Amino acid sequence: MIPKQTIDEIFQTARVEEVIGDFLHLKKAGSNLKAKSPFVDEKTPSFMVSPSKQIWKCFSSGKGGNVVSFLMEHEHYSYVEALTWLANKYNIEIKEDHEKTPEEKAAYTLRENLSIINEFARDYFVHNLHNNEQGKAIGLSYFLERGFREDIIKKFQLGYCLDESDAFTKAALEKNYKLEYLIEAGLTKKKDERTFDFFRGRVMFPIHSVAGKVLGFGGRTLRSDKKTAKYFNSPESELYNKSRILYGLYFAKNAIIKYDRCFLVEGYTDVISLHQSGIENVVASSGTALTEDQVKLIKRYSENITILYDGDPAGIKASFRGIDLILEQGMNVKVVLFPEGEDPDSFAKKSTATELEEYIEEHSKDFIVFKSDVLLKEAGGDPVQKASLIRDIIQSIAKIPDAITRQVYTRECASMFGMEEQILVTEITKLRRNVIAKKHGAPEIKSLEVPTEQVEQSDHQQREKRTDENIYSHELDLVRIMLNYGVFQVKTQHVELDEDENEVITEVEVAVSELIVHEIDKDELELENPLFRKIFDEIKEGIDLGELRGEKYFVQYADPEIARTAVDIISNRYELSPKWTDKKVYTNTEVDNLELAVKQSIYSYKTARIKREKEVIQTEIKKLSEGSYESNYDEIMTLMARQKQLDKVINLLTNNDSLGRVIH
Ligand code: CTP
Ligand code: MN
Repeated sequence: MIPKQTIDEIFQTARVEEVIGDFLHLKKAGSNLKAKSPFVDEKTPSFMVSPSKQIWKCFSSGKGGNVVSFLMEHEHYSYVEALTWLANKYNIEIKEDHEKTPEEKAAYTLRENLSIINEFARDYFVHNLHNNEQGKAIGLSYFLERGFREDIIKKFQLGYCLDESDAFTKAALEKNYKLEYLIEAGLTKKKDERTFDFFRGRVMFPIHSVAGKVLGFGGRTLRSDKKTAKYFNSPESELYNKSRILYGLYFAKNAIIKYDRCFLVEGYTDVISLHQSGIENVVASSGTALTEDQVKLIKRYSENITILYDGDPAGIKASFRGIDLILEQGMNVKVVLFPEGEDPDSFAKKSTATELEEYIEEHSKDFIVFKSDVLLKEAGGDPVQKASLIRDIIQSIAKIPDAITRQVYTRECASMFGMEEQILVTEITKLRRNVIAKKHGAPEIKSLEVPTEQVEQSDHQQREKRTDENIYSHELDLVRIMLNYGVFQVKTQHVELDEDENEVITEVEVAVSELIVHEIDKDELELENPLFRKIFDEIKEGIDLGELRGEKYFVQYADPEIARTAVDIISNRYELSPKWTDKKVYTNTEVDNLELAVKQSIYSYKTARIKREKEVIQTEIKKLSEGSYESNYDEIMTLMARQKQLDKVINLLTNNDSLGRVIH
């Protein structure tokens, strides 16, 4: 937990334009700044930053928020991570307000220490590659000969570990890094009281976390003899957990979102070469079978995976199991097969960027179809083999959670194998039960045939839905007015009763927020949407304390969901016109007629709430009269009376009799 005081300090210090400027190329546009959206692929910039409001808004994706939500969207930080990042940038000290347990402390300290050491190691290896004679002659020239560009070498922080027994370990110890952590990080090995560098003589690939921290390394030997493994990798540790890491994800995540697709390759060099060819939405499983954690990691950014294979048949078959994991997550899987003897790295080297893109585009195949093809070819004409391959394929199909997608594949396979669809359906339904049972220990609900009656909503349900949407939009309007014009003054009537109970009416000026709060409270209404209600309650609390809480208060609000809602409302996410300038025209007239606008929206909201109550009563009456009219007589009469009462209130509202008056 970061203390509230520190959060406030961070918000007060951080400048949204400075922070976003660290990630995007911002250009001046009037009093705002703009850039191309990092979330979608676009030619004309639609990403706006408002330094005066301290908010940002991406009109292409609809995203927007404050400085913290930018880091959450763009860097995929958690709320706390984003605040910590800002505190770091602006040198604000975070004093934790709860004591960590000893175990938490120890684990945290170990992770931190390993991470600091890895960062030192990375810098040291990078320095060697570019500045040390051996590093340049052996490491750098190796990368350059492979065709890696200098900018790419720098971007991926590639390095070189000198071919000397313990040059790195010595350097680290000299800087007072502890031997125990060097060993734990796998950078140093100890044998009979002698220490030596684990990666000596290897070129180094740092492996980053999603947030860009160095979790570990892959080190490639430059020898071609088979005596030593081609790659050494950091050992598993508190920091480095292979099954939860995807190489390249840090550099790929924004492109994955932008293109809504993730390419999956085998190795470090494939990732780097594809980047160099302009394909940045690519990650590697680093030679091992894909794990569920890795699949989920990708799913955070996109549901679409394309696996890029080298044309090695044994490797392809071995990968099929891993792919079922992806299907199980409900993701869409495609595959691209490269020509025999080529991997994505070598193919990218040989081709221009356009050729590469075209190849991928043209050779993308749906996974199930691809798998069927591969297995069918293998089976040849052998009926026994064919039967087992069909079983294999339908096992994959049964893993898909979505019933409609399953059905599409079932049909496709039936036609591919020349089988009756119904037989496959029956088999898959059986397998599906097993899948579900395994997961939850419960039988599956029938999901293949959905009766159409269940899908169509009754008239009544549809009307209810419309009314709810209506109420939502009126609540939104009230909150929007409070956020935008809450502090403005409007005229209204102040009513007091004298001793003889006569109304004494005077004209008074009150703040818009005060008027709205008064009107909603007066009828004992509560906003239904929880976010809107929270904003409303905060404004009300402010009024009770004698302060008017407006735009600024909410944009910097500690709860990110509230802050985002406020920003969305202020920057018109919910408006039809996506342009701030268009909106100005409208808001200007709204300001001119503020009094009317405020009263209108209170009126519309109340009317909508009353109409719904009437609808509910009507349904109730109908239900009661369908039973025995006599026995429900009293109840029906009460409801009808209430209905009349509501009609009256609507009448009153319509004639604008009571609306907007402050009555004491
Ligand atoms: N790998 C590994 N350990 C090995 C061999 C491979 O960890 N002994 C992992 C690495 O992540 C490697 C990936 O598997 O990147 C793919 O292996 P391979 O195709 O052999 O390596 P490349 O990265 O393609 O290396 P190069 O092109 O330099 O041969
Ligand atoms: Mn390779």
